[in-house]
Amino acid sequence: MNDVLDFINVSRDRYVDELKQYLAIPSISALPQHAGDVRRAAEWTAEALRSAGMQQVRLIDTPGHPVVYGEWLGAPGKPTILYYGHYDVQPVDPLDLWTTPPFEATVRDGELYARGAADDKGQVFMHIKAIEAYIKKTGGLPVNIKCFIEGEEEVGSVHLDDFIRSHKKDLAADVVVISDSPMFDRGIPSICYGLRGLVYFQLDLRGTRSDLHSGAFGGAVANPALVLAQVLAQMKDRGGRVRIPGFYDDVRPLGDAERAEWKKLPFNETKYRKELGAPRLFGEKGYSTLERVWARPTFEVNGLLSGFTGEGAKTVLPAVSMAKVSMRLVPDQDPNRIEELFEAYVRKVCPATVQLKLTRMHGGKPWMTEFDNKYVRAAGRAVQQGFGQAPVFSREGGSIPVVSTFREELGLPSVLFGIGLPDENAHAPNEKLDLGNFHNGIIASAYLYQEIANLD
Ligand code: BES
Ligand code: ZN
Repeated sequence: MNDVLDFINVSRDRYVDELKQYLAIPSISALPQHAGDVRRAAEWTAEALRSAGMQQVRLIDTPGHPVVYGEWLGAPGKPTILYYGHYDVQPVDPLDLWTTPPFEATVRDGELYARGAADDKGQVFMHIKAIEAYIKKTGGLPVNIKCFIEGEEEVGSVHLDDFIRSHKKDLAADVVVISDSPMFDRGIPSICYGLRGLVYFQLDLRGTRSDLHSGAFGGAVANPALVLAQVLAQMKDRGGRVRIPGFYDDVRPLGDAERAEWKKLPFNETKYRKELGAPRLFGEKGYSTLERVWARPTFEVNGLLSGFTGEGAKTVLPAVSMAKVSMRLVPDQDPNRIEELFEAYVRKVCPATVQLKLTRMHGGKPWMTEFDNKYVRAAGRAVQQGFGQAPVFSREGGSIPVVSTFREELGLPSVLFGIGLPDENAHAPNEKLDLGNFHNGIIASAYLYQEIANLD
């Protein structure tokens, strides 16, 4: 292990230079004009796996963006890790709010700024480099590893469930390892044992055939911008509770023991609020902030569009309005049932003065595991060795749809050991990765393989 650690330490600057190249590829899965770049990022990932010493490395096509697969199975009798990550990234708008261009990775104050730095290319690369160090210095790995890196996570992993169902044998393993989540805070590493699920909709309202002069016609027909606002306003009450009938029926209440554990976490609400720049925090009455984000479902408006939004004033009655909305789900809510409840409620509260079109987009199930399993404990020891500190156990508000598929289709537990930070600006301008965490994360990943090897 010492040779491996020495190699990682002397390679520190090289890793950052290589990661910058990876981050230069604008692999935005949501935008069709970037399909070629997404493929280029897949090829880059495959090449990085090959030069790390992985075998059978290949791109496997799906109806969407390709999966990158590579394996090293030279440790018979030892456990097999299925390492999952994603090489696609989110769109970069609003571009003018980036201090440096999103695809020209730049180091400032020990942080690497670029789209995908934390979510998730930096964390994928961290594992690739841990694998490389191990294979280069010891001629192999202490465990078997199958790398499974996809290009559609940021668009809901829509083709992945079918892919997993049809490649069950290829993906057979003992445990899934994922690094695609933040640490609890700077200096406080964490292992994540729960994720929220998601359902996502687009709402389109049409009032009239065309935009109209708001003086000539205003008052005679409904205004779809206002109707949209009225419909959306009925989704939550003033206490932050979602008003969709049946929405909370299947929510698993937070247990007393878990609540007591969370109270012990070093969470500072004032610091949290100030960092977010929010005048006040707001959420469902009767729950703490951590409970609201980790254990309660929510309804959010992701975007709104209607009418004239340019400079100056234009007296117009818009013909259409549009909103993108989503709901984060917790165990034991079922995305299909929530979709049905939402649709029924919107149809009920939307007046007949407009035409309503509802489009279901991607989604994913919530996931939670008992954190007292041997793999999670092994990850805890690895993090301790990489970061010099034992991790806390946290749930997260974000979603990784495939995690529940791994359990349902492959019967696999997952260990989520992420090295991002709550202020990493994922999905926002100026996304960044703390290079100290990146380096410690490579060391922790190397220890993780060894810890898992020593389990059986
Ligand atoms: N890395 C995130 C997931 C995440 C975010 C985990 C925060 C823990 C905390 C992932 O890349 C992501 O953004 N997932 C999407 C999934 C969606 C498109 C189905 C999400 O959560 O919005
Ligand atoms: Zn993401």
